[in-house]
Amino acid sequence: MAKKVLLCSIVIVLNFFSFSAAELGWWEDASLYQIYPRSFKDNDGDGVGDLKGITSKLDYLKDIGITAAWLSPIYKSPMSDFGYDISDFYDIDPLYGNLDDFDALIAKAKSIGLKIILDFVPNHSSDECIWFQKSVNRTEGYENFYVWADGRGEDPENPGKQLPPSNWTSDFGGTAWTWNDQRQQFFLHQFQPKQPDLNFRDENARATMLNVLKFWLDRGIDGFRIDAIPYFFETLNENGTYTDEPVSGETSDPNSNKYLKHLYTRDQPENVGLIAEWRQFVDNYTREHGGDERILFAEAYSPLEALDNYFGNETHPAAHFPFNFDLMYLNKDSNARDLEDKVNNWMDTIWKKHKSANWVIGNHDNPRIGDRIGKDNKDNINMVVLALPGSPVTYNGEEIGMDDVPDACSNDPCDFRDPERTPFQWDNTTSAGFSDSNKTWLPVAKDYKCNNVKIQQGQERSSLNIYKGMQKLKTTAAFKAFKEEGAWKYGALNDQVFQIIRNNTNEEYRILVNLGSDLETVGPLCNSIDTSLCFMEYKLVTKNSPHNIGDLANLTSIQLTPHEGIVLGRTTE
Ligand code: NOJ
Repeated sequence: MAKKVLLCSIVIVLNFFSFSAAELGWWEDASLYQIYPRSFKDNDGDGVGDLKGITSKLDYLKDIGITAAWLSPIYKSPMSDFGYDISDFYDIDPLYGNLDDFDALIAKAKSIGLKIILDFVPNHSSDECIWFQKSVNRTEGYENFYVWADGRGEDPENPGKQLPPSNWTSDFGGTAWTWNDQRQQFFLHQFQPKQPDLNFRDENARATMLNVLKFWLDRGIDGFRIDAIPYFFETLNENGTYTDEPVSGETSDPNSNKYLKHLYTRDQPENVGLIAEWRQFVDNYTREHGGDERILFAEAYSPLEALDNYFGNETHPAAHFPFNFDLMYLNKDSNARDLEDKVNNWMDTIWKKHKSANWVIGNHDNPRIGDRIGKDNKDNINMVVLALPGSPVTYNGEEIGMDDVPDACSNDPCDFRDPERTPFQWDNTTSAGFSDSNKTWLPVAKDYKCNNVKIQQGQERSSLNIYKGMQKLKTTAAFKAFKEEGAWKYGALNDQVFQIIRNNTNEEYRILVNLGSDLETVGPLCNSIDTSLCFMEYKLVTKNSPHNIGDLANLTSIQLTPHEGIVLGRTTE
């Protein structure tokens, strides 16, 4: 009860303040959208998405309120890790088109004011990359371009074979070292053996990566999502050896990436310096070429202290921000209090220090929202992510509530991430309008005839229209003022109902979602003595809501049906 009264008085106090939106960098509250190019839109009918396909759908992204689209890798690649294994960092894979198609994509994006971010994958290349071939051959300038090491002597169990330089395991499981017969040394791969790690202690490797950045910046992009930042450096002993990592105790499977405590292979201090070097490079690029700030977002599933470091410091800024993956750990049993805890994790630490927030709720490496958190809460989760201060990050398809396709399988063996990578559902024609071909690289979800963009555009309360409604709210002064003291507030009102308040002088919005499957009553959410601020209008409602847009809500007591999500709004003069 005490909590409710406190909340009520805070809201009233807020209404006497006057907020002005501080100068924001475009990326600070940008709506970011991840395109998985293989699965977004196929223009040439080969069953795999491509650049022309993406270009043809940029208007759609603009229409749903996206500020910047991030493209998973489109570079030349043998596709062993679907593009995260690059064989030519300066070219487009023929599956996706060519550089002219890329330039056309950028031109179209610029013409409609949409920003394009590319995936930058510096930690490793494909083993089919010319740099690796040169390094294998010890070609001058490339001798130490990758992380090479001698074995620890003959393996007593495998006579004639060398023991690897350390016990390190790769992120995908198994040893992180592979023997190369030609060079007679092991090379390190924090991911697949087909993805050898670059050695950023090598000057040529460092300089080459700056060239790569420049090449794509010159083609007009707005920044990069940097892949796998925790893995850039490994602790190297003075005598050139590597130390074994201790067992973590988390699993008994020695092949699992959880088997060891990654003291020497993750989040090493040198990583920050390297990103700061790239930051300086892109900042200089913006200064020299003008235009909006080119940005660096960074991918790290790391503890908060490490994420904090990846921002760099005032004199040496590093990433504009590392992605916040905390909400990805919500599951079907999570309730409003768990959600509050997760949001607090970021806001109480990173926000406090850096005044920066972002919310990733899906990507090509994790099950989709419906499968992870629950199908009934898809819209609620999207609403929360779009209502929290800062930048929401949407994985393509989450705006229409696409589900995992459990039997999707691209290879033998299947990639464990295939289910969340299936073709985008545009309409109810062949292959969901993704491709003219009815053979697509992964199967189209069976529900595509009733779940696609076209159908949802025509349904007032569809996931897509809720999503668009939230994006519209993000443009209001109340949402824009998010760096001002007291411009937002969030919290669990009970076990199941989560509330976010966005506020400025003349506007207040309350986003309430019921994550549970029971009817919930909350309130009073206003001062019950002075009731003048107790009435708000329903501005947005999810499909299961008994209310209509325009209905009046009395904050003295609000009922929410199972999984109902609502936005209430009030404007005062
Ligand atoms: C993170 C990417 O998101 C994932 O798809 C990839 O397999 C690894 N990095 C390795 O590049």
